[in-house]
Amino acid sequence: MIFRKTNYLCLINLIKMNVQKNISLKPYNTFGIEALASTFIEVKSEQELQEALSLFPEAYIWGGGSNILITKDIERPIIKISTKGISVSKENKNDKFVYVTAQAGENWNDFVQFCLKNNYGGAENLSLIYGNVGATLVQNIGAYGVEIKDIMTECKAIHKENLTTHTFTNAECKFGYRESIFKNEAKDKYVITSVTFALSYEKHTLQINYGDIQKVLEQEEIKNPTIQQVSQAIIQIRQSKLPNPQELGNSGSFFKNPIVSKEFFSTLQEKYPQMPYYEVSPSQVKIPAGYLIDSCGLKGYRKGDAGVHSKQALVLVNYANASGKDIYELALYVQKVIFDKYAIQLDMEVNIL
Ligand code: EPU
Repeated sequence: MIFRKTNYLCLINLIKMNVQKNISLKPYNTFGIEALASTFIEVKSEQELQEALSLFPEAYIWGGGSNILITKDIERPIIKISTKGISVSKENKNDKFVYVTAQAGENWNDFVQFCLKNNYGGAENLSLIYGNVGATLVQNIGAYGVEIKDIMTECKAIHKENLTTHTFTNAECKFGYRESIFKNEAKDKYVITSVTFALSYEKHTLQINYGDIQKVLEQEEIKNPTIQQVSQAIIQIRQSKLPNPQELGNSGSFFKNPIVSKEFFSTLQEKYPQMPYYEVSPSQVKIPAGYLIDSCGLKGYRKGDAGVHSKQALVLVNYANASGKDIYELALYVQKVIFDKYAIQLDMEVNIL
């Protein structure tokens, strides 16, 4: 009897929740890969998420689909997080920061635009990064000298099995370069539901020494830039190098920039004195993977519809109908070429499904 009642309640929940069967994932991944999802549930509130998790605790959690390469149809149920809402949770005039909480399903760039409109500073260097707020934490997104860890204070996450809510502080997220606890110990265990950021609202501290930001500001004859102008400069730089996924399927940087010991790097430098690098610790340097790929002549390389972007070699693209496997094979080829020439193993930044 109890079993039947549970089944009946499950059925009611399934109907309420709009569980879709065998749907195409093409609109849900920025690579534009065609693949089928056996079971797909889009949740728009925390309550819907709780209900979906109670029915499908093994579900794969889907955000904006901007850091994923799908290589096969997905049998595992998928829960797509589409919760929306941004609230200013604390604005104390004696405090230097305003605390802004965004629901996990908010589009990241919409969140950045919200901050710029309200003149809240800190997120401007992360303008025009694709994906949703929840997922930004998982891989600690970063660009132009700023990472999500620099502005995030805490996040809330639901445990997938016991459905309790846990708060992770910034330190507890164990952020590293494109790394966090959600890629390691907490992987597959929690669903991030909201993220709180500390942003400046009066005196902004600008980060404009990285890359071409200064150059673009000078071209525009901007001497004391506002956060909105810094954002505009970054958007201009990104648009000049990175393909728009609506026009050319891609997932941003496909590989991480490799970090190697200074000792190993000095042997490389003897052979390749032009090789760019950034010091990341007293004993390690980071080498731009884009440079390594470019220097092997692979920028613009194309096999079928899978290619290495012609303006930024770190980005792999789907020209039209590449399968996930085509892109994956290209990625393996790139890794092999780099390893054979430099003895460096490139790690994929994108999640392979
Ligand atoms: N480079 C080349 N050829 C290329 C690409 C780059 O020689 O085809 C050289 C550039 O000349 C430059 C260096 O590599 O000296 C670095 O290039 P860039 O400034 O474009 O940055 P990146 O290291 O390739 C990283 C992030 C990007 C982020 C930019 C700007 C990673 C994996 N990628 O790229 O993040 O936008 O810095 O901060 O750390 C993303 O994660 O999706 C992403 C786009």
